[in-house]
This record gives sequence, structure tokens and C-alpha cells, in this order.
Amino acid sequence: MSDWLDKTKEAAAFIKAAYNQPVEVAVILGSGLGNFTKEIIVEKEIGYNEIPHFPVSTVQGHPGRLIFGNIDGKKVLAMAGRFHYYEGYSAAEVAFPIRVMKLLGIRTLLISNAAGGVNTSFRVGDLMIINDHISFATINPLIGKNENTFGTRFPDMSEPYAKDIISKAKNIAARLGHHVKEGVYFAVTGPTFETRAEYKMIHTLGGDAVGMSTVQEVIVAVHAGIKVFGMSVITDIGIRDDDNTITHEEVLEAAAGAEPKFSAIFKELVKAV
Ligand code: HPA
Repeated sequence: MSDWLDKTKEAAAFIKAAYNQPVEVAVILGSGLGNFTKEIIVEKEIGYNEIPHFPVSTVQGHPGRLIFGNIDGKKVLAMAGRFHYYEGYSAAEVAFPIRVMKLLGIRTLLISNAAGGVNTSFRVGDLMIINDHISFATINPLIGKNENTFGTRFPDMSEPYAKDIISKAKNIAARLGHHVKEGVYFAVTGPTFETRAEYKMIHTLGGDAVGMSTVQEVIVAVHAGIKVFGMSVITDIGIRDDDNTITHEEVLEAAAGAEPKFSAIFKELVKAV
């Protein structure tokens, strides 16, 4: 995507022509978490297939539309469905919507995903606040020509997940009576789930959860000066020795089971950031 700046501008111009109200908070909904959209009073929906240069999601459980609306009056943009490297998009294409968000005026991005647990204290259905990530097993989306108008060539990554939002999320979860875990998200390309040896390696390397999304979006957001918060729903426990077979259906089912807790926290967080 060499001329991505022009493409980003065209996509943003199309969206602004369809919905031209200021929105500063965006939410990306991971696998099985689409029900969060029910919290939004919808003002405008735009299918990804309508937006120039927008990739179109191919994976089951990811419908693919931008939803503009409000939660108790607070304007929000939700991405229902995201793009993954394993679908065949380049890393920059995966993160293309984040650059469009930047041009739309988004200042804070709340990201979610389904992830496998590699921390032995985690259980299926747990929520994990992402406090850091390890991205060396995926492709960096900033490889290629840098656009200085978006951000610097060598961005700092010492705090990809904003500490003040993490603290707000913890307070909200405590107020709602929902226990949340915290940890490091280890990104892989997928689409295979990990072997037993890989889950163990990820644990050894410092990961608490492993997943096939998120970090490319986070890197592009941080590059562009967008503040990020991330939360994983733990849908399987790869580190177990007895039975760690896993299917996409089980991931969707486990995510859907934890979705009410997740949505309650994210709803309050949208209002608080
Ligand atoms: N591994 C990678 N990605 C995932 C997993 C997993 O175990 N569960 C949900 N997404």
C-alpha cells in the first residue's frame, strides 16, 4: 500500500460525507464480542464494502461495519469486525482503519480481542486488561515509507497501553463487581492455533495471553498519537497439559459467554475516557 496516505484520505472523506459529527472515542470489537453494539444508540452504519480502499473482513463472527452513535450521549465509533494478517492482508492493510480513524479525529481507541490464556492462573471466560504486548512474532505495520504527518520513523513503545485508562478500567470493573486479570498479550499471525510447545514457549517468553490480532492496530495507533486501551477475553487455556484442543467455535462461544461483563466495562469506559 505505497500510496496509503491518499487512500486513507479518500476513505476518511467518504465517511465524513456520510457522518460528519465529532467523535473522539473508537472501539474495536473482537471475535464473539459484537453484542456490545447493542449498547450504542446508532446514528449511522457504514458497511466496510461501501468505503473506498477499506478491506472487507472474511472471517466468521466478524460482520464488517462501522457504527457511529452514542452511549448515554457520548459519541462513539465502533468497528464491528476487524482485519487479520492471516486473511491475506498486509500488516499495513490490517491497520488501515486506524489511520482513517486518526483523520476522523479519534483520540482514544478501546480495543478488544479473544485470546488464548498461557498464564496458569487464568480460566476460560476471564477478562484480561492488556498492560503490554510482545509483537516480534508478527509483521510490523510501520514497515515501509514513513509519513511524518502521522508520526515519527522510530516510535517509542514504552507505554503502548495508556496507564491512566488502565486505572480507570480497573476502577470501573471493581465498581461493577467484575474481577479482571492483567497481563501481556503475545501476538502471532495465526491462523493455526498454537502447538503445546508453542503455548509453553509463549508463557516462558513472558506472554499471559496469545492472539492473532490487536498489536498491528495498536502500533499504528500509538505511532499516530492515539491513546490505546486493550482487553482480552480468555477463550481457551493453551498451557494446560491434559486437553488443549481448540476450535474457532469454542473461541466464539467462550467470548460470547464473557461478553456481558466485557460490555458493561467497555460501556462505562467509553463514557469515562
Ligand atoms: N491462540 C491464538 N489466538 C487465539 C487463541 C489461541 O489460543 N484463542 C483465541 N484466539
